[in-house]
Amino acid sequence: MLLEVRDLHVEFRTRDGIAKAVNGVSYGVDAGETLAVLGESGCGKSVTAQAVMGILDTPPGRITGGEVLFQGRDLLRLREEERRRIRGAGMAMIFQDALSALNPVLTVGDQLGEMFVVHRGMSRKDARVRAVELMERVRIPGAAQRVRDYPHQFSGGMRQRIMIAMALALEPALIIADEPTTALDVTVQAQVMDLLAELQSEYHMGLVLITHDLGVVADVADRIAVMYAGRIVESAPVHDIYKAPAHPYTRGLLDSIPRLDRKGRQLYAIKGLPPNLMAIPPGCAFHPRCPLARDVCRTDVPPLYEVSAERASACHFWRECLHGRS
Ligand SMILES: Nc1ncnc2c1ncn2[C@@H]1O[C@H](COP(=O)(O)OP(=O)(O)OP(=O)(O)O)[C@@H](O)[C@H]1O
Ligand code: SF4
Ligand SMILES: [Mg+2]
Repeated sequence: MLLEVRDLHVEFRTRDGIAKAVNGVSYGVDAGETLAVLGESGCGKSVTAQAVMGILDTPPGRITGGEVLFQGRDLLRLREEERRRIRGAGMAMIFQDALSALNPVLTVGDQLGEMFVVHRGMSRKDARVRAVELMERVRIPGAAQRVRDYPHQFSGGMRQRIMIAMALALEPALIIADEPTTALDVTVQAQVMDLLAELQSEYHMGLVLITHDLGVVADVADRIAVMYAGRIVESAPVHDIYKAPAHPYTRGLLDSIPRLDRKGRQLYAIKGLPPNLMAIPPGCAFHPRCPLARDVCRTDVPPLYEVSAERASACHFWRECLHGRS
């Protein structure tokens, strides 16, 4: 396995108390595979990714347990300079907001070229040629001219392409994309997502795609990991999940996406709000919102039950959920 996160725990010490943001997350992704990580705002998707990338704010954040195995090595045990080398050359990250991730006072050509100068020891001139190639690769029209432009001179969609180009520059084995299209218009979202999926398959990279949007993952993901209150509550091949979710939270997410074949019907929304991470409910964290909840759910934390060889659910009543009795 290319990346394997095992039982990761992250907390934030704040003035108001300890927020338990990540509470035993395990997930994996292979070369050439796309894992979508899904869940409502605040469930720990980005914090998990930051811990994997080694860019977590510490303090206030703290990794209190677990392993992050990348190509077999536990990144959490490496020295910072080794991690820095892996970041960029081994794994790269794409963020939601390209404008704040890119340097506003450097041309995009200089920023892309910098990767080759620093990591590959290229001359500025050769690096510039590679920068143009990369911009062509992510289909920026007029790349040879636009390489001299600054980030703010590009549209949101084009800037996102430039960030994809930055991530691809050193041909990393793994890309983590954190809501890469959320800030874009719907049509541009689809174009950028298609491009990312195409490059991922061409370069045979592992891709961790963090998103709120179950709609976009159906086409691009191989597997889905659903997070709730800092845990993975369901993990499965994408088609299994669409056919029949094995966790009531996944079912709630699925029922709340607009679907063409259900036009006119009212959209379902999961009742209530995700929990405060300083006071996660006992037992199953989802119980205050769950239509299937019983007494045992309020006291006993559900383990990750094996639903099939490729599938797991952290619900005491996953069988009921899977067979639609909810
Ligand atoms: N810098 C920080 N200081 C304190 N707490 C933090 C910090 N960053 C994250 N947290 C806590 O971690 C929780 C999880 O945050 P995270 O950013 O991982 O959510 P997310 O799933 O990515 O949500 P979104 O979909 O909104 O991006 C937050 O709700 C917050 O309680
Ligand atoms: S364990 Fe209980 S509360 Fe939690 S998801 Fe399953 S049925 Fe709902
Ligand atoms: Mg996030």
